[in-house]
Amino acid sequence: MITIIYESKAGHTLKYVEMLSKKLNIPFYSSKEASKKLKSNDKIIYLGWICAGKIKGINKIQNKYTVICYGAVGAYPYSDKYINELKMANSIDKPLFYLRGGIDYSKLGRFSKLLVQMVGKTMKDIDEKTQIMFKQGYNFVAEENLEKMIQYIQKNSNNI
Ligand SMILES: Cc1cc2nc3c(=O)[nH]c(=O)nc-3n(C[C@H](O)[C@H](O)[C@H](O)COP(=O)(O)O)c2cc1C
Repeated sequence: MITIIYESKAGHTLKYVEMLSKKLNIPFYSSKEASKKLKSNDKIIYLGWICAGKIKGINKIQNKYTVICYGAVGAYPYSDKYINELKMANSIDKPLFYLRGGIDYSKLGRFSKLLVQMVGKTMKDIDEKTQIMFKQGYNFVAEENLEKMIQYIQKNSNNI
């Protein structure tokens, strides 16, 4: 039995979690709920949102459960270089799948909003949709972004 554990602030990560759970027919818990429902060493898939290069909540689960793979949900455009940086910064030794979330300013507090807008202004060579995302918000969540992750999980776990 495999379970998804997640942390989401504005809902993009939760959306991916719901899609993954439906597709693989496995349950999901927030990291808070998981500590009550799961035993240490249970097999899990972890999804968390990225805040200043760190995958939120990852430190709470890394030495506790048997992690099959990770999903990191962020706003920046996809690149292999970025995924490698995330792996290093979060001490990840399992496959990491980058899932593009988005920005929803209505869900952010004043400080977070200012911070994200500031980052947007410093980013160079960004495409039009990314510019729109930083200016007014945009949602990149799409089921097809999960394809590689689903393939990996199906190939590497006998129980699904
Ligand atoms: C304070 C703050 C810092 C962020 N830092 C990053 C970052 O370093 N890299 C990135 O790709 N996205 C970053 N983001 C964007 C979020 O990861 C993105 O909005 C994500 O979709 C949030 O997921 P959630 O809706 O599940 O909370 C940041 C957002 C906030 C509010």
